[in-house]
Amino acid sequence: MRYILSMLAIAVLAVGISLYWISRPTLVSAAPPPPISATTLDQLPKERKGQVLIYGAYGFTGTGISELASEYGISPVLAGRNESKLKPLADSLGYDYVVLPLENNHNNLVKVLKHFEIVLHIAGPYTYTAKSMLDAVVEAGTHYVDLTGENHVIQAELDRDEEFRRANIMVMPAVGYDVVPTDCLNVYVADKISQPTQLTVIINGSYTAADGAQTSRGTLKSGLEMLGRPLLKRENGKMVAMATPELIHRNENGREQTLLQIPWADMITSYISTGIPNIEVFQVQDGQLPKWLLRVAQADAGRRVLGWMIDNFAPEGPSPDAQENRQTRIVSTVSNAIGETASAALITPEAYVLTFHSTLIIAQRVIDGQWEPGFQTVGAVYGPDLVLEVPGVSRTDL
Ligand SMILES: NC(=O)c1ccc[n+]([C@@H]2O[C@H](COP(=O)([O-])OP(=O)(O)OC[C@H]3O[C@@H](n4cnc5c(N)ncnc54)[C@H](OP(=O)(O)O)[C@@H]3O)[C@@H](O)[C@H]2O)c1
Repeated sequence: MRYILSMLAIAVLAVGISLYWISRPTLVSAAPPPPISATTLDQLPKERKGQVLIYGAYGFTGTGISELASEYGISPVLAGRNESKLKPLADSLGYDYVVLPLENNHNNLVKVLKHFEIVLHIAGPYTYTAKSMLDAVVEAGTHYVDLTGENHVIQAELDRDEEFRRANIMVMPAVGYDVVPTDCLNVYVADKISQPTQLTVIINGSYTAADGAQTSRGTLKSGLEMLGRPLLKRENGKMVAMATPELIHRNENGREQTLLQIPWADMITSYISTGIPNIEVFQVQDGQLPKWLLRVAQADAGRRVLGWMIDNFAPEGPSPDAQENRQTRIVSTVSNAIGETASAALITPEAYVLTFHSTLIIAQRVIDGQWEPGFQTVGAVYGPDLVLEVPGVSRTDL
């Protein structure tokens, strides 16, 4: 059976490579777009206070956030690089929009961002989209939040902390499912014992199972960027490479489970929020990641082919039914040198639904003047209870 499945996977990959090769985009370096017109700039908000720009608004997650914005009293301007995808969304929601490529477009980005208090940067993989937006927010003096879970991107943002402080802006990565619930829960349990030295987080993304995709295309492609880099974990305060992710087999309430160690952003963000020097994150896993996939993802060309296959064959994201019915459970446990431990659990709604809400809750906080200059983490600035503001989230001490 395993042999047949492997052969099937190889056949699918071979077909994918052939199709990718036939229809691959020609790589040309983008010429700088022309200066943005005075008419377009004139239509943007005159006074930046309270104004929100959603960049990447027409992606799966950007659409969810744009659709929910009014419930949080936010009337955003929508942005992205493709007018044919942006305009229908903006028209259907009754918001203004601005077409704005990221590549080679620094001056236009700055001119637009100067009209906004905060940008919700929802375009990823952030490996390719974060830097140009960050360069622009620094010059424009605009607060920035994103949804990256790509550790190398978060580290690059952390490395620019001083620059963000000088610009008097807050840069807060990972304001979605990765890492709002875990970071808040980690801060909560860390406060329960003195000087915690070890933090272990276990994420069950399908605690209440529901059919259909668990992730969007953007998340799958961002995941590829992480698979293509060394797998890191937090050990004695340092990020160290793991040869292979740890696997733990356990029996939970009579069900066999495999826990797979994953490079969740907590290893950077919760290190900052809690100061705990050893952090491990595991995901409850149904199947195993095929080894060949890891090998393909580690080559640039392999990632391009897999990315193309995701764009063309993967579902856009979880269905409305899965968004409504799937729940996740997160358990965080801390311990210290004298043997004290503490644990707590969160039940959350489906990961994208949580992301739509958490992004807007944080945007609203910033508009209300609750922000700190520099690189910041959710748990450190807003505390453990922020996640409880997301509808459907509950916390229990274990
Ligand atoms: N932390 C979390 O829990 C969490 C939750 C949800 C999403 N995310 C992350 O958020 C990102 C977006 O996710 P999604 O679900 O919306 O994915 P998606 O449906 O694939 O949408 C991706 C969006 O990014 C835009 N984009 C990609 N590359 C771009 C570039 N070089 N310049 C300008 N725009 C670019 C796309 O525009 P085009 O269509 O024009 O390419 C599209 O609007 C991903 O990185 C994902 O991992 C994180």
